[in-house]
Amino acid sequence: MRAPVIFAVCLISVRCWMVILRVERNILNLNERLRSQWVESAQDWISTDQVVRVGMLDRWMLDALGDVADNAVIDIGCGEGRFSRLLSERGASVTGVDLTPAFIERARMLASERETFLLGNAEDLGDIPDAAFDVAVSYIVLVDLHDYRSAIEAAYRVLRPGGRLVVCNIHPMRSSQPVGWVRQGDKKLFYPVDDYMDEGPREFNWWDRRFVNMHRTLSSYIEAFLDAGFTLAALLEPTPSAAELAANPTFDDEYRAPNFIIYILDKP
Ligand SMILES: C[S@@+](CC[C@H](N)C(=O)[O-])C[C@H]1O[C@@H](n2cnc3c(N)ncnc32)[C@H](O)[C@@H]1O
Repeated sequence: MRAPVIFAVCLISVRCWMVILRVERNILNLNERLRSQWVESAQDWISTDQVVRVGMLDRWMLDALGDVADNAVIDIGCGEGRFSRLLSERGASVTGVDLTPAFIERARMLASERETFLLGNAEDLGDIPDAAFDVAVSYIVLVDLHDYRSAIEAAYRVLRPGGRLVVCNIHPMRSSQPVGWVRQGDKKLFYPVDDYMDEGPREFNWWDRRFVNMHRTLSSYIEAFLDAGFTLAALLEPTPSAAELAANPTFDDEYRAPNFIIYILDKP
């Protein structure tokens, strides 16, 4: 081979390696950021009233889960354990798993004897045995994960055959541009959907800091659930009841642009 050809081949392979290394470094940085933002925001989350969850979403989640009495439930990305406690009050034995140490400490402080809280990564659920649970819950966690496909596979692994996974997530129509409503004065004009097919991180302000959520399309989520082996039993777009709306009039925008989505998934 002639020297110029050898030189060109070497140059191309060095460039390829540089691109690969840059992509890997970006993935590592994003992963680190997704994790550290919850470490930094744990106290803010603990002291924030969960108005939408308490005022509307919990009802949809509890209905989706049905009777959990005597069920073994895993709450994946349990935060400080608020929803785990609701489930154990309904008779479930709950294992909550979260990656943020401050949340697990707080959850353990408030736990009853029917709740166990473990530090762990939703993307592998490393210490959790196979087929150990009747029900798995993921309550607004997938937007926080870089490797959502591995997390869905892990949830499948820890469920027994016949078990059910209930996932609540930010609706993909809202996660494409998490910038809030476009307003004219006080009037909400519309909620933008843009760059919908461009999956990846989206930044926004929360508690005076920059926060990142991962946006993916509806079809990507459905494909990931089906690829993992789940069947889709139902897909819900929560809205407030008349009483919930009367108690929280700002929930009216849930009728205009869907904020949340719930997937009910069965392991055959
Ligand atoms: C929006 S909070 C929801 C907490 C809880 N599910 C609730 O509804 O109150 C997202 C949670 O996901 C957790 N989380 C983020 N990445 C995680 C990971 N890789 N493994 C486990 N938990 C994770 C955060 O620590 C945080 O508690």
